[in-house]
Amino acid sequence: MASTYRVGVVRGDGIGPEVIDVGLKVIEAAGVGLETVDYDLGGARYLRDGTVLPDSVLEEWRGLDAIYLGAVGTPGVPPGLIERGLLLKMRFELDLFINQRPFVDTAKGIDFIVIRENTEGTYAGEGGFLRKGTPHEIATQGSVNTRMGVQRCVRYAFDLAQASARRGHLTMVHKTNVLTFSGDLWERTFNEVHDAEYRAVATAYNHVDAACIYLVEDPQRYDVIVTDNLFGDILTDLAGAVTGGIGFAASGNLNPDRTGPSMFEPVHGSAPDIAGQNKANPTAAILSGAMMLDFLGEPAAADRIRAACAASMSGEITGSTTSVGEQIARRL
Ligand code: IPM
Ligand code: MN
Repeated sequence: MASTYRVGVVRGDGIGPEVIDVGLKVIEAAGVGLETVDYDLGGARYLRDGTVLPDSVLEEWRGLDAIYLGAVGTPGVPPGLIERGLLLKMRFELDLFINQRPFVDTAKGIDFIVIRENTEGTYAGEGGFLRKGTPHEIATQGSVNTRMGVQRCVRYAFDLAQASARRGHLTMVHKTNVLTFSGDLWERTFNEVHDAEYRAVATAYNHVDAACIYLVEDPQRYDVIVTDNLFGDILTDLAGAVTGGIGFAASGNLNPDRTGPSMFEPVHGSAPDIAGQNKANPTAAILSGAMMLDFLGEPAAADRIRAACAASMSGEITGSTTSVGEQIARRL
């Protein structure tokens, strides 16, 4: 009998519920059984009763196989509250140290994956205010980089680059010419891991500003990119924009050690301006669902979903959120 996976579902805000409903239907149509547990969390929930992410929920999540999330964020909630209190808390507490974001545009010969470190850097929350609200105010926001954190991230990226599905090439992106402390740790760690364990992988290094130019002018050069948390955040929006739009960009927040569930979500946000209109492109959410199936050990179903989504990415399938979902499900 096929296995059934226990998946926590956070539909979230804005277009989140619409795209996740479609994603779940496509997974069902692909023949994978999910036992879903719904969690009503996000900006709307916060506005209703002040709940962001209770520790009791985090504890429940530790026993799940995966988490599937739409988007969180609602106008009227102070900036950072849901991002830090829900999304980042999830990434940190569940040790989702890899953020994997694939970008494919077959017509243009583009096929690369960004591996973004997901628990450190400027996201770590180091810093604070001094003399807040006065003319002498000081705000600092440091970047936290540990050898262990960089090592496990670049190792994951090297493993991926040498996997049979890839082309054996890994580019590190940073800003070593200015960030001479964190950049130095990244560069040394990258080179040490390469020399000790992955000599067969060809490597390159790009400064992040140059990488922005290459992503626009010559994205075909990339196979796997590994980078720091904030650079990865910015680069993956750009990468989405140059490979057909953010409506196709999928992501996995991974705990490769499998000490808990990994979380899968589209790169796009809650898009409140088009929420509830059955207008949002569900492809990114569907492709994030395919990444979840890969991680759960259902690569054949994941491949079928990706193949069906190609028709959406080529523009062959268009229409409302639900209609795009139905057309993709029919092609499985
Ligand atoms: C992303 C998002 C998040 C991030 C926000 C919503 C906290 O932009 O997943 O890329 O910055 O990581
Ligand atoms: Mn982002």
